Amino acid sequence: MPDALGCFAFRTVMPRGYALPSDGPVGRLMRTLGLTLERPAHLHFRVSAEGYETLTTHIFDISDPAIGRDAIFGVKPELLAHFSADSCDGGAQGRSLEQELVLCRTRRD
Ligand SMILES: [Fe+2]
Repeated sequence: MPDALGCFAFRTVMPRGYALPSDGPVGRLMRTLGLTLERPAHLHFRVSAEGYETLTTHIFDISDPAIGRDAIFGVKPELLAHFSADSCDGGAQGRSLEQELVLCRTRRD
């Protein structure tokens, strides 16, 4: 639940890059075109609030070695972020991301 300013936090696993399936039509097409199947590490977000358009997006880890080779060309400068090293509860090492997501108000025609 967001606070009065709309801020919220959650904990999840650190995303890793992955490859699109290579055995289907997309894989065959990508191989034929000489394109990579790689997707750099990213977190998906779907944010909704009453009175605002739902935002569906993803944020990429700028340090991922495959950041310049996204198979579906989804990486844009405004979607890059640093997942910084951080200490978690109990002293465990983790990484954190602070990201601003902006929602647009729903149109009232
Ligand atoms: Fe994904």
